[in-house]
Amino acid sequence: MALSRRGADTTALGGFGDPPPTGVPGFLPLTSGTPAAEALPVKELSEAAADVLGGPAAADALQYSGVEGTPELREWIGRHEEVAAERVLVTNGALHSLSLVFDALLDPGDLVAVEDPVYPLALRVLGRSHVGYLPVPTGPDGLDIDALARALEGGARPKVLYTVPDFHNPTGATLPAPARTRLVELAETYGFTIVADSPYRELRFSGEQVPQPSAESDAVVRVNSFSKTLGPGLRLGWIVGPRRLLPAVTRLRANQDQHSSTFTQAIAARLLTTPGLFDRVTADARALYGRRARALHAALHTALPGRIEAALPEGGLFLWAKVLDDDPDLHTARTRAHALGTDFGVGSHFSPPGGTGSPAHIRLGIGAVPEADVATAVGRLAEALRPETAR
Ligand SMILES: Cc1ncc(COP(=O)(O)O)c(C=O)c1O
Repeated sequence: MALSRRGADTTALGGFGDPPPTGVPGFLPLTSGTPAAEALPVKELSEAAADVLGGPAAADALQYSGVEGTPELREWIGRHEEVAAERVLVTNGALHSLSLVFDALLDPGDLVAVEDPVYPLALRVLGRSHVGYLPVPTGPDGLDIDALARALEGGARPKVLYTVPDFHNPTGATLPAPARTRLVELAETYGFTIVADSPYRELRFSGEQVPQPSAESDAVVRVNSFSKTLGPGLRLGWIVGPRRLLPAVTRLRANQDQHSSTFTQAIAARLLTTPGLFDRVTADARALYGRRARALHAALHTALPGRIEAALPEGGLFLWAKVLDDDPDLHTARTRAHALGTDFGVGSHFSPPGGTGSPAHIRLGIGAVPEADVATAVGRLAEALRPETAR
């Protein structure tokens, strides 16, 4: 595992390469990490908004509110996370949570352990802190804890480890419970902070939920969001921090925009505290994503027999597939895919500085293509991936 002291190249990492054509009728992008339009609770949020505006506290919902978030929303998140509400800070989404936590914890020149492959926008946020990177291999079972332990034993001293333990972006992998326990032990032994970012946690469509990294530990910060359940346009997320970190993060927030929208928090809290509603919204979303993931997985093996390796994820929005051809030219294939009416994420865009580059992998997302169109989209993908020699 090579250490890299280079800051993130934000332009290359954030943009996922050339943008796909927009507004093309019938374009079926297989890359999107945005939630499916059909899974978003439009009717439920509209009723919640009407209740807020028609209720006795309507004017309060349009007023300033506390830096940490409204009491109703913090209490709901605290119950959901099984921590005291005082440990919760409401933010404008997971990326905002990451920027607050990284700003509070990191100084220029610090070393940060990141997954390889990694969620590239987290690297963009980290890039603002001018840190160095310790890439840690991440495979079908999530972060490779043995590789991390070896690097630590070899003298690497990260201040922070950033991880997506549930239905990882881009691999779709989930870190098993014993590895989570070991990760927390390593953090406590070697004195680093785990920043666990879990926006896909509610989207498990098969298998058993894995407990989160323990919030009992002073080494764990949890970051999460309503983006993948209620909608990213709400810009509503949260931090569950150890008590040692909360004052610094709260101070930073107070010196930025003070607080997340009181109105949006009130609408979300109304939906969340209506008995059974959030469970129904997320159960429907899970069923939809499960059907789409299975359709995508089956279509890949039908359209690309023997040429692709891809595990069926147990949740989330991504399928990470390995193209088995010799030295595939995925950038050229992606340009062809755009002309054919689809899109995919090229593995190298998910490589941290010093990482392996994932040269044969592609990330496929299930957010934007309805089940009925999955086979068509995958047919276009297969054509785009056809090697030059077969053309
Ligand atoms: C791992 C991960 N973290 C954070 C985010 C961003 O979440 P939010 O919209 O809440 O900022 C995403 C969105 O794709 C993500 O995949």
